[in-house]
Amino acid sequence: MYLNYREPIPINSNPGMVMPPRKFTTILDVARFTARLVDAALAHKDILNHRALPAERATSREPGQPLCMTQYYKILGACRIPGKVRDSQYTATPPKNGEQAAEHVIVICRSQLYCVPVQAGDRGRLTEDEICAQLLYVLDDAPCLSNPPPVGLLTGWKRALWAEARADLMKEERNRRNLDLITKSLLIVCLDEGLPNNFNCRLPRGGRGHAAGMRDETNLAHQMIHGGGSTHNSANRWFDKTMQLIISGDGACGLCYEHSTAEGVAVIQLVEKLWRHAESLPMSSEVPAACGSHLPPPERLEWVLEPADHKRIEDAASLLDNLVKDLEVQVYRYTGYGKDFIKACRVSPDVYVQLALQLAYYRLYGKLTATYESASTRRFRLGRVDCIRSATPEALAWVTAMSQPKEDDEMGNKKVSFHLVSDEKKLLLWNEAVAAQTSEMVENILGQGIDIHLLGLREAARETSPTAAVPLPEIFTHPSYRIANRFLLSTSQVATSTNSFMGYGPVEPDGYGAAYNLKGNHIIFCLSAFWSSEVTSASRFALSLEESLNSMQGLLTRRPT
Ligand code: COA
Repeated sequence: MYLNYREPIPINSNPGMVMPPRKFTTILDVARFTARLVDAALAHKDILNHRALPAERATSREPGQPLCMTQYYKILGACRIPGKVRDSQYTATPPKNGEQAAEHVIVICRSQLYCVPVQAGDRGRLTEDEICAQLLYVLDDAPCLSNPPPVGLLTGWKRALWAEARADLMKEERNRRNLDLITKSLLIVCLDEGLPNNFNCRLPRGGRGHAAGMRDETNLAHQMIHGGGSTHNSANRWFDKTMQLIISGDGACGLCYEHSTAEGVAVIQLVEKLWRHAESLPMSSEVPAACGSHLPPPERLEWVLEPADHKRIEDAASLLDNLVKDLEVQVYRYTGYGKDFIKACRVSPDVYVQLALQLAYYRLYGKLTATYESASTRRFRLGRVDCIRSATPEALAWVTAMSQPKEDDEMGNKKVSFHLVSDEKKLLLWNEAVAAQTSEMVENILGQGIDIHLLGLREAARETSPTAAVPLPEIFTHPSYRIANRFLLSTSQVATSTNSFMGYGPVEPDGYGAAYNLKGNHIIFCLSAFWSSEVTSASRFALSLEESLNSMQGLLTRRPT
C-alpha cells in the first residue's frame, strides 16, 4: 500500500509529530539537547541489537495477548528507496553476536547534509559531550556556506521522478557514497529555523496551546509535517528516512517520519523515550571539553550535480511548494472534557470520538462518508493495521436524530422551541450506534476486519493474473468498491504519554485528515484539509466538532442515571 504510492510522500503519507517546545537560550542548548537525543537513540539501538526489547501485551479486549514487536526493531536505520514502479525499503541488519557496529547519523542544517559518526567499531560510542561538539561544529559551519544545493527536496518529489533523478545521481561515485551514507544512517537530525508566525495562515488563528515563541500549535504542526516549503525547512529533510528528528533554534521540536516501516504507535514510543531521557537531565551550560578533542569534524556531503539535476531540484521544489501552500491544518484542543468524562459515561473513548467525528461531518454535509480509522493488528505476527469503518447505518440514524432542527410554536402568546426528536429517542439511537461502533472496533483489533482480507485477495488475484487476460473479480472493479475506499474522513487515534501530538494530510483532495489524542480532561485534534477544495475546511470542521462534542455532553448528562 505504501510502497506502490507514486505521489510525493510529504503531506500525503509522512506524518509529523509535535513535541512540547523547549526553551533554548544559546546555540549550545540546541546542541546539547540534540546530543542527548542521539545518545539515547544509540542506547536504544544497543537494546535492539541484543533483541532485548520487552514484548508489549494488549491491555484491554482479551488483555494479556502479546503484541508483535517487529516494527520496533525496524525503525532505527531504515530508509525508503524510490523506484520507478514501486519503492523498496532498506532496513539495517543487526550486528552479529558481540560485534559493535559502526553507526552514524546525518545532520541537516540550512539544507547542507553532514555525516556525524557516533559509534566506531574500535572505540565504541562517542560520549554525549563529543556528539555535542560535533553538532556545534555543524551549527557553526552551515551558516557560512553559500546556498548548498537543496538535494533533499528531491525526496519530496513524485516517486517515479525521484527514482529517475536518483539513478542519475548514482552515476557519480561521490553521490553514490552520499546516498549510501544517508540510507544507512541511524536517523536524521534536522536542525531547523522556525517558521514565520503567520505561515500558511488564511484565517485568524488564536495563539492557544503550547507554542514556541509566538507560534501556535498549528504553525508547529506545519513545520513537522512538511517543513514549510523550499524557502523554509523542506530542504532540511530527507523525507525517505524513517526517523527525522527536528530541532528548531526557537525551541520547536518534533519528528517527521516515513510511514512504510512502522505505524505511529511504535514511532511515538521511541520518540517519547528519547525525549524523556533528554529532559530528565539538567541542561549544562558548559562548553563540551570535546570541542578541542582529536575527533575530525563531521564530513560535509558534497554533491556532483549536472544542470539537469539542478533543474530537477527546481521542479521538485515547485511541486512541493504548491502542495505545502495548499495544506490547511487546524490544531484544535477541545477543553470541554476528555477521556475521564467519557469513561464515566460507560462508553469507549475511541468509539465516542469516532461518533463525534461522524456527527461533525453530518452537520456540515447532511450525509456520512466512507471513514477510515486505523486499528492495530499487532496481536498477529507482522500485523500492521486494519480499517475500522465508522460510518455505520446505526451512526447515520443517530446523527440524523441529533441534527433535527428545533421547531418553534406559539403557545398562548408565548413562543416555545422544542426538539423534533426526544432525548429518549436520541439516547436509544446513541446506544445502538455505540454498540455497532464498539463491535466494529473490537472485530478489527481481533483480526476480523474486512479491508486487509480483501486487499490480500485483490493482490493474490493480481499476482495470479499479471496480464489483463483474466480480469480482476468484479468485487474489485465495481463502483461500490471505489466509493467504499474513497476515504473523505481519514482518522487515527494517536495516543501519547507527553503533551505531544501527531498530524497528517487528507488522503483525498476533498477529504479531511483527523488525528486525535485523548487526554484525561481534554482532546487534541489535528485536522487537515486542502485549501483548493471547495467543499472542505479544517477550521469549519473544528467548529462543527466542538458543537458536536458539546451537544453529546448535553445529551449524556441529561440521561437519567
Ligand atoms: N466504559 C468505561 N471505560 C471504557 C469503556 C467503557 N465502555 N470501554 C473502554 N474503556 C476504557 C478502556 O478500558 C481504556 O482504559 P485505560 O485508559 O485505563 O487503558 C480506555 O477506555 C480506552 O479504551 P478505548 O477507547 O476503548 O480503546 P483503545 O484505547 O483500546 O483504542 C484503538 C482503540 C482502535 C484506537 C486501538 O486499539 C488501536 O488500534 N490503536 C492503534 C491505532 C494506530 O495504529 N494509530 C496510529 C496509526 S499511524
